[in-house]
Amino acid sequence: MLEPLGSNLWIADGGIVSFKGFDYPTRMAVVRLTDGGLWLWSPVERTAAIEAEIRALGPVRHIVSPNKLHYLFLGEWKAAFPGASLWATAATIAKCKELDFSRALTDEPPAEWKGQIDQFYFTNSPFMDELIFFHRASRTAIIADLSQTFSETFLKRHWPWWMRPIARLSKMVEGWGYPPIDYRISFRNRATARPKIRELIGKHPEHVVVAHGEVVRTGGEAFLRRAFSWLLQ
Ligand SMILES: [Fe+2]
Repeated sequence: MLEPLGSNLWIADGGIVSFKGFDYPTRMAVVRLTDGGLWLWSPVERTAAIEAEIRALGPVRHIVSPNKLHYLFLGEWKAAFPGASLWATAATIAKCKELDFSRALTDEPPAEWKGQIDQFYFTNSPFMDELIFFHRASRTAIIADLSQTFSETFLKRHWPWWMRPIARLSKMVEGWGYPPIDYRISFRNRATARPKIRELIGKHPEHVVVAHGEVVRTGGEAFLRRAFSWLLQ
């Protein structure tokens, strides 16, 4: 299930989750840090198979949630790896009171992965704060909801015909990579977000891992210019 995407970076697809009546595919990423410890991003539902593959890669040290909608499986992964630290944004920590987080993540990476994984924190939408990550060794941008790339195949299989035009018109599809329309419209104070996206693009990403949709395997930099054209223009 784990698929290598770049140097010390793997991805794994999980099941379908339902959100506001829409089916969403899920994906997690695994980074092996230079000390050999593993950093799990947005873990999908834990199965014996995926857990065994991850255990074979090294010790799980960090479990990271990028935003408050990506919390469903944090508890079960923390239960499997009690020595790992849980990390999330302030909104996720406020929402998941039963979980014991290390502390809230913002733009400054903690010492545990500083210099290996960069992070960009967006509080522009009143509905959600979100982190985008950049893994330097594999030149991979890792994005939960701020870029979505549903394939036509997925939409035909999982979304009713009358809802597919919503995805296409809002460009949350493969080749475009916009976020959902409500997230985009509610994105305020855009001048504060632009330098962060420009800095991310300036790191010349090759791959872009999204939680929902098709992985961008090459040309990540050009993809991101298009995916965030709604913000940068
Ligand atoms: Fe999501």
